[in-house]
Amino acid sequence: MQIEIVGSQKEAGQTGLKIFTEAIQNGAKVFGLATGSTPIPIYEAITASKLDFTGLISINLDEYRNLAVEHPESYHYFMNKNFFSKKPFAHSYLPNGLAADIDAELKKYDQIIAQNPIDLQILGIGQNGHIGFNEPGTSFKSTSHLVSLTENTIQANSRFFASIDQVPKQALSMGIASIMSAKKILIAAFGINKAQAVQAFIQGPVTEKVPASILQNHPNVTVLLDTAAASLL
Ligand code: GLP
Repeated sequence: MQIEIVGSQKEAGQTGLKIFTEAIQNGAKVFGLATGSTPIPIYEAITASKLDFTGLISINLDEYRNLAVEHPESYHYFMNKNFFSKKPFAHSYLPNGLAADIDAELKKYDQIIAQNPIDLQILGIGQNGHIGFNEPGTSFKSTSHLVSLTENTIQANSRFFASIDQVPKQALSMGIASIMSAKKILIAAFGINKAQAVQAFIQGPVTEKVPASILQNHPNVTVLLDTAAASLL
């Protein structure tokens, strides 16, 4: 893993932009995208740049179960607001959290990923080491699946909702095997709240208890950190 430590959000954005630019120059066609506060400076730098995604494809990691796409906390809404409204793709896929037949939706999502191999996957990380919505204990062999969110994640995400009762309890997520199939992975973490998870996934054992630790086995990973997130390394 290549570790890059930056001093500011602005610098993080520029580093992310550089990685996206190089990927496009190297022929990348499919981008795996993430939500959360972490990718925002990167998306800001990208959407302010000259990069053109109109011939390319994006596939998002996850979406809440049963949250309307117009809800400001849905990942559909987030992606439109922070990325697609400014830089559209030829096609952008997100899991449909409202699908009546969830098994069919998950199968369809796996087919989409198989037909559009991801060239560059961007990831944030949860405080418990989760990636996408793959919580601790998720099989490293997992493909797209329905997840029951842990109390830790519900609590962490409650800051975005009017009350904790409104945080969805389930989500659809790309699996860990699907994430690992990406040719290159950029994982970012900022702030002291992520320091423990960062230390565990980089320096601890590869274990399903820390989903991001599997990235130690991937041949092409860049870890983008600020000094606070890197403080326990
Ligand atoms: C959610 C998302 C993850 C994200 C994590 C951390 O659980 N499903 O993809 O990495 O939150 O979010 P943040 O970047 O806001 O700390």
